[in-house]
Amino acid sequence: MSLENKVAIITGAARGIGFAVAKRFVADGAKVVIADVDDEAGEAAAEDLKSQGEAMYIHCNVAERLDVRNLVAETLNAYGDIDVLVNNAGIVVGADFLDLEEEDFERVLSINLKGAFLCSQAVARHMVEKVQNGGEPGCIVNMSSVNSVLAIPNQIPYCVSKGGMSQLTKTTALSLAQYGIRVNAIGPGSIMTEMLASVNSDPAAKNRILSRTPMLRVGEPSEIASVAAFLASSDASYVTGQTIFADGGRMPLNYTVAVPDDA
Ligand SMILES: NC(=O)c1ccc[n+]([C@@H]2O[C@H](COP(=O)([O-])OP(=O)(O)OC[C@H]3O[C@@H](n4cnc5c(N)ncnc54)[C@H](O)[C@@H]3O)[C@@H](O)[C@H]2O)c1
Repeated sequence: MSLENKVAIITGAARGIGFAVAKRFVADGAKVVIADVDDEAGEAAAEDLKSQGEAMYIHCNVAERLDVRNLVAETLNAYGDIDVLVNNAGIVVGADFLDLEEEDFERVLSINLKGAFLCSQAVARHMVEKVQNGGEPGCIVNMSSVNSVLAIPNQIPYCVSKGGMSQLTKTTALSLAQYGIRVNAIGPGSIMTEMLASVNSDPAAKNRILSRTPMLRVGEPSEIASVAAFLASSDASYVTGQTIFADGGRMPLNYTVAVPDDA
């Protein structure tokens, strides 16, 4: 198995894409730490995975430095190492530009972008020390978005945070390359999770999304998890500083595609 005995922290893994990544990593042999702020869902997610392998839940608000420090310490205490970090925790706050509150701008940036920085720095300090003591280099996978490049006018802090994620991925990759530590990102298109819940019940919203998706379907969380599994494995041993878009063809598309009635 490609992640046999590797220790992986996945933030925001109580549900959605993060949980799918946790499930895939456990199936690939990893010991997984689910880090989230939703304690009930996080504990339940860890219980679910324990039937297939090793998993535990640790409460962590990624925007809080002390929570992140505790996450690293508790993981090292439980599993003795950290090989993989997946910075997946993220939120959205929709508002028109002229109405957007400063507080909401700061909240999204502090979770989606600063949180990834805090977790990356704390975990990288452990990874670098390990390499300096003769150990194997680890890797980091950031959950970015097509919105790191494409913009939505009423999702300002979200798009800004994901644009920042692209540069965080590149700067971290360059800083850690000398140690053999790889840093990459995934840019999902529209994936069926709670973040996209409104689409399920709104045919017009679904049509809008599919008209910008040449594969004419929304993606599944497991289709993002498989990209994370590749990036975290030694199959990606010479890949660093990249964002891989898994988006059903959205990024190359100009204009829109026709959506059949039964799509
Ligand atoms: N669903 C999509 O279509 C889509 C598309 C592109 C990118 N993404 C990205 O994928 C990631 C996961 O999205 P999702 O759709 O699974 O979302 P989701 O809302 O289903 O899950 C997000 C998880 O993050 C947790 N979380 C929120 N704030 C946190 C914090 N401060 N600290 C720790 N955990 C926190 C939530 O409790 C939840 O478990 C996000 O970074 C998102 O931007 C999603």
